Amino acid sequence: MEVYIGVLLLQIFFLPHFISCDGNLSELVFPSNFLFGTASSAYQYEGGYLSDGKGFNNWDAYSHQPGNLIVDGSNGDIAVDHYHRYSEDVGLMHSLGVNSYRFSISWARILPKGRFGEINEAGIEFYNNLIDALLIKGIQPFVTLTHFDFPQELEDRYGSWMSPQSQEDFAYFADVCFKSFGDRVKYWATFNEPDYQVKFGYLTGTFPPSRCSRPFGNCTDGDSEKEPFVAAHNIILAHIAAVHIYRTKYQETQGGSIGIVLQCTWYEPISDSIADKLAVERAHAFTFNWFLEPIIFGRYPPEMRNILGSILPEFTATEKQKLNKGVDFIGVNHYTSYYVQDCMFSVCEPGFGTSKTEGFWAQSSEKNGTPIGEPVSNLNGELVWQNAYPQGLDKILTYLKDKYHNIPMFITENGYGNMNKADSTTEELLHDAKRAEYIAAYLGALSTAIRKGANVKGYFAWSLLDNFEWNNGYTIQFGLYHVDHETLTRTPKLSATWYRNFLAEHSKVQYQQQPKDANNSPFYY
Ligand code: NOJ
Repeated sequence: MEVYIGVLLLQIFFLPHFISCDGNLSELVFPSNFLFGTASSAYQYEGGYLSDGKGFNNWDAYSHQPGNLIVDGSNGDIAVDHYHRYSEDVGLMHSLGVNSYRFSISWARILPKGRFGEINEAGIEFYNNLIDALLIKGIQPFVTLTHFDFPQELEDRYGSWMSPQSQEDFAYFADVCFKSFGDRVKYWATFNEPDYQVKFGYLTGTFPPSRCSRPFGNCTDGDSEKEPFVAAHNIILAHIAAVHIYRTKYQETQGGSIGIVLQCTWYEPISDSIADKLAVERAHAFTFNWFLEPIIFGRYPPEMRNILGSILPEFTATEKQKLNKGVDFIGVNHYTSYYVQDCMFSVCEPGFGTSKTEGFWAQSSEKNGTPIGEPVSNLNGELVWQNAYPQGLDKILTYLKDKYHNIPMFITENGYGNMNKADSTTEELLHDAKRAEYIAAYLGALSTAIRKGANVKGYFAWSLLDNFEWNNGYTIQFGLYHVDHETLTRTPKLSATWYRNFLAEHSKVQYQQQPKDANNSPFYY
């Protein structure tokens, strides 16, 4: 193990090309109050299924349903047992030297029946304990209100995100959280990757509530060409309701900030043709701009309005007013980049993005047989969906900076997935030099973007621990720590050691001078 670490540190500190964009570590630029952390989510980490009064949620329902699409037949009933082991996990974070932890709240643990039942005090106590344990170690909580999970009650009563009632439920839940935890939590995100939440939940039907229509998926009910837009509309209005509550009731006294986390894959045109360049604009519109443009500018992206017409719900005049400048920061989840090709004027093989209601574009990891960046694969060469293309992070941050007036941004997730095959040995899984290389290279690209003026305030590696990866169950792992799913023992991988060394080094060479053009007011624009 020591030999590997030695080789890795040698590579990182003495081979400038290794950190592709910025030369060596001491040249990386991060403002002095930058948050460095690891990220997680409730369903993927906590376990504690129905423990201490927690209610049944949508992922409990889905993962327990025979015939679901979780590849290894697993679920998050135990996950990595963070509910019982949070203290140990905070200790691991402290030993890494991070100053922040992004986690989400299990809505059903706090409100087992949404606004239709009592608050579960044991749930409040769990998050109080977690928050206090973090703060004692100097680790700032960065809280996502919901990361794909919500009480099943809301699905059973009124079809969750298909009904405007969901806005009321979310606003109520947010209020309970601000009231209970806002004295200590200064960073709030409302939703995580809502585009995937609605695409998987209502277009392909591969996430709960498994609604879709053919040819997009095989569900008993749903309409893949309409429902994603209704669900997204309710999510946008639920976001804005929570922001309104925070700003009017809590922000002044609690002094925190509130934003939303988007799935920010970077897309590049596969050719110089105007058609492919416009397809890239549509790809951006139908993923993150779908949410950001309404929340910041009060309207859906023109690329969506042009294609979807009346399928896209309308905002009322009052809603538009509330939507104006409806975030203090943008949370950027970034893992990979793709080439994009036009499917509006050319015929494409049916696939993700190609249909009319997805925006008429096709994504590809390679151009003329050459991958956009090194493909992420396991030892047997099986591909995960990622290609390491660190420049993509610089490009997306520069794009968001220019489009949204340099609103503060956080990299709320970035990480490297490897396949945990039945025949992978623990030894192999622990020697994850590729993960460390990936994170180093992306930190280099992040530093480049900051140098060029992007107002980025923090970076969270996904993830502290190997965990439950949704439809991939436990077969794809992103942890800096390996988790033995029999014993739940956590063991640091090479990447954990690398991150710890990086953070120690960073604190020594902390950047002294503010990057040019950065907006110095911390949260408002
Ligand atoms: C983003 C999601 O927010 C997270 O839940 C997931 O585990 C990672 N991507 C890796 O796929």
